[in-house]
Amino acid sequence: MHRTHTCGELRTEHIGQSVVLSGWVKTIRKFGSITFIDLRDRYGITQLYFNDALNVLLESNPLGREFVIEAKGKVVERSNKNNQIPTGDIEIEVLEYQIFNASAVPPFTIEDDTDGGDELRMKYRYLDLRRDVVRKNLELRYAVSRATRNFLDAAKFMEVETPFLIKSTPEGARDFVVPSRMHQGQFYALPQSPQLFKQLLMVAGYDRYFQIVKCFRDEDLRADRQPEFTQIDCEMSFVNQEDVLETFEAMAKYIFKDVKNIDMPDAFPRMTWEEAMRDYGNDKPDIRFDMKIKNLNALAKGQQFPVFDDAELVIGIAAPGCSEYTRKQLDELTEWVKRPQIGMKGLVYIKVNTDGTYKSSVDKFFDAEKLKEIANTCGAQAGDLILIVAGNEALTRKAISELRLEMGNRLGLRDNSVFKPLWVIDFPLFEYDDENARWIACHHPFTSPIPAHIEWMNDTSKYKDIRANAYDLVLNGTEVGGGSIRIFQKSLQEKMFAALGMSKEESNLQFGFLLSAFEYGTPPHGGIALGFDRLCALLAGTEAIRDFIAFPKNNAGRDMMLDAPSHIDEKQMKELGLKSVQ
Ligand code: AMO
Repeated sequence: MHRTHTCGELRTEHIGQSVVLSGWVKTIRKFGSITFIDLRDRYGITQLYFNDALNVLLESNPLGREFVIEAKGKVVERSNKNNQIPTGDIEIEVLEYQIFNASAVPPFTIEDDTDGGDELRMKYRYLDLRRDVVRKNLELRYAVSRATRNFLDAAKFMEVETPFLIKSTPEGARDFVVPSRMHQGQFYALPQSPQLFKQLLMVAGYDRYFQIVKCFRDEDLRADRQPEFTQIDCEMSFVNQEDVLETFEAMAKYIFKDVKNIDMPDAFPRMTWEEAMRDYGNDKPDIRFDMKIKNLNALAKGQQFPVFDDAELVIGIAAPGCSEYTRKQLDELTEWVKRPQIGMKGLVYIKVNTDGTYKSSVDKFFDAEKLKEIANTCGAQAGDLILIVAGNEALTRKAISELRLEMGNRLGLRDNSVFKPLWVIDFPLFEYDDENARWIACHHPFTSPIPAHIEWMNDTSKYKDIRANAYDLVLNGTEVGGGSIRIFQKSLQEKMFAALGMSKEESNLQFGFLLSAFEYGTPPHGGIALGFDRLCALLAGTEAIRDFIAFPKNNAGRDMMLDAPSHIDEKQMKELGLKSVQ
């Protein structure tokens, strides 16, 4: 071995020992005839001390940043101790060293506070990965995967791998496809999730399955979305919704305790999809703060204020302690809601002053009595600022939900060290796709309706009201997981495909294997998949999942290091029977 210890290991009790360390040169400091070097490896940093004699050697055999070296020497007590690092009480008096490999000057500083921009760091990701902050993220990721496996193993779940080259199916996001050489003109798809395989494993009797598995989705990217990402994918037989929620609530608690020593609440609160949409404007409410959304249709209409009178929905929130907002701040907030991403035409405000008076941008239309009623409905206290938007229902609900989160940010109410989990349940089973004039499955077509609504599958007029036996795990406003109790009878599954507009032939072509499996003894089953990357990011208090992926894609879905995707040569194209039209 080229080392007796790691660079994070030596302490005062090692003083006097002869040791060998290997690692990367982090910094070099020369003081006259002596030189200090910080040697770095994955475990930490140790200071090397080169005395007069070795300094001469250093001049003929110089070191530079990121050189990989081996240093033999003696552990000595440091005169100038560094209490910032665990090895700061000692240093190595170097007696001998060798250079394993020189390094070119790195394109950015390998420090937490680096001068390298995003793209550059992605291009040289192997250097970026040497930075402490990035390494810590990957260590956290590993700790989460270890805790997950420990929990699931103890709960009798068995990890089973499922294939990556599968069949393209029409539901969900876009598939990534892989051309087949042996079957020209035909394509595999990469799985968006192992959904059907885990269900088939239930048919096969593997009644508690899990897999920490890559999934692939060709969709628009955001901070919390990568084209390839990882799920903690699970499925159980002979369970109902309650069993699944309890099992995975326990898993989430176990992971938080094990990885971060955080005690999650005893029972996670539950909220129906309808309540979430009504009170928070979206299906993944951030419940770290209140500021609930209030419908003001009844109060706001009929006052000859056309913006409200013509709107489908008038809706408001009370931002605590903001009644002192200046004209400038209010103008800026108005511009904020008018940005194309939010899309509102304007913002109405009511200041609930601490002296009991009201000041609003609609004083001309609303007297003090009416303003007071609105304030009461919004639950506003003296000193609050009511913010109201109006317009088309879906857009307005989305806008107020964004505005609520923005005000939460501005008021410091979204503390990343606070964790507020929530189950959202009773999602609609279907939503109507106006563009294609058909019903689509909100979760996926294998999700069962809640038992009381199974009958409604026979009545198209009831589709919009059917609730799914589905649930999402939401944490601090992020959807970390989603799952459902599945359909397990062939007849109901066929009904589902028909409801989604698939003919018998189409459903047999796409999902014949599943329908056939359902003929051979299928147990009732259900499961969930947690977004593993999202869970890691949340545990670290951020949204950006790519910081927790060793080799991520950039926002345009490119691997900057490999420069992928890329063209393939003519020969390869020909072999695959492909022709580019570019
Ligand atoms: P769903 O599509 O809800 O369910 O995905 C489960 C969880 O995966 C995470 N996730 C993502 N993370 C990063 N990048 C992405 N592009 C991305 N897309 C999804 C989310 C999400 O909650 N088969 C079903 C699960 C089931 O029914 O058991 C499924 O895949 O955190």
